Amino acid sequence: MELRKSGPLKGELTVPGDKSISHRSVMFGAIADGLTEVTNFLQGADCLSTISCFRRLGIDIENTPEKILVRGRGLHGLSAPSDVLDAGNSGTTTRLLSGILAGQDFPCVLTGDASIQKRPMKRIMEPLSLMGANIRSVRGDGCAPLAIGKGDLHGISYSTPVASAQVKSAILLAGLYADSPTRVTEPVLSRNHTELMLRGFGADLTSEDKTAFLRPGSPLVGQKIEVPGDISSAAYFLAAGLLVPGSQVLVKNVGVNPTRSGILSVIRAMGGRLELLDERLCAGEPAADLFVSSGSLHGTVIEGDLIPALIDELPVIAVMAAFAEGTTVIRDAAELKVKESDRIETTVAGLRAMGADVTPTPDGMIIRGGRPLHGASISSFDDHRIAMSFAVAALAAEGTTVIENGDCVRISYPGFYEDLAALQ
Ligand code: S3P
Repeated sequence: MELRKSGPLKGELTVPGDKSISHRSVMFGAIADGLTEVTNFLQGADCLSTISCFRRLGIDIENTPEKILVRGRGLHGLSAPSDVLDAGNSGTTTRLLSGILAGQDFPCVLTGDASIQKRPMKRIMEPLSLMGANIRSVRGDGCAPLAIGKGDLHGISYSTPVASAQVKSAILLAGLYADSPTRVTEPVLSRNHTELMLRGFGADLTSEDKTAFLRPGSPLVGQKIEVPGDISSAAYFLAAGLLVPGSQVLVKNVGVNPTRSGILSVIRAMGGRLELLDERLCAGEPAADLFVSSGSLHGTVIEGDLIPALIDELPVIAVMAAFAEGTTVIRDAAELKVKESDRIETTVAGLRAMGADVTPTPDGMIIRGGRPLHGASISSFDDHRIAMSFAVAALAAEGTTVIENGDCVRISYPGFYEDLAALQ
């Protein structure tokens, strides 16, 4: 993918549906009784992996351009797959589905692509095993493929060592199949879509501060879900609108759940011009239109409790920091190392290739902004968020940038380059 320094970006767009909510709508719909109807479902490769896994588990899912229809078969309605389940590149599919599979009375194997097979699964295997699940890493290295057999599940009270919505969700989903209540406490509250949505589907689930408490026994009932736009996808357009001189960009219908919208606080802390318009609710989640206009940014410190609320946005935040005046410090973000790529390494590599002054640290990076960036050849490392972050950098840098393997954006945003071009 080749991109050049851009003139002002002008106009409005609607980004595709939220990835986390799209995955969950299919998963929870599959184990609910009756029909779940989902509009604005994200047709990215990750969410399509979730659909294909549940089809293999015997669920009828109709995927039309207007909506997804999931014909749920109840908590105990999944059937044994005839083959290995393939989660593709999707950590959410792998970890959440593992929680559901732990509660089934048939064995199966769950795997994914080369990146998934390197990502840590002990973080779910440990708590699920404590619940009585029969789950092991086939190669014994703590990664997928995972072999999951029948187990008798009991509720646990578990404190997760890392703030991870995938870990929390895997435990809560297994908790639906346990014979006693399950409690999960996080060090910092991670995205809470599972809690909000499971409650909407009829689960007996309460949340207080950083703890979710689930009593098993309530059946789930199919729902109508309108997925709000993904703030993680909107982030690239917000950054581009802030960085490219003369720009004014309106991103419509974006989910701004506080457990996801940390980037908005960072934009404000950097002095970015941002307005939230028409704040409302979409599928029980706060949503708004986001308007940005370009202007100078300054460095900031991003750390602590804010990190889980912007973890997927840190690569593009690092790009913003490289164009900002002064120093930006990102810390407490060691989780970046275990995403689709090691995002400390891959973000630093891309920024350096474009001439930025950036130093990696064990839990983040230090970016001394304000140097003029130039076009370069950038590896996406097959990581969709790295490709999109550097596409944004390319629009504000001198010259031409080539994003190698740029088509990996299909994972979360198949029409990304077209939507970006439409604003130019
Ligand atoms: C997700 C949780 C986060 C996030 C990922 C989606 C989810 O991962 O990075 O893109 O949908 O639950 P972790 O749970 O590993 O932090």
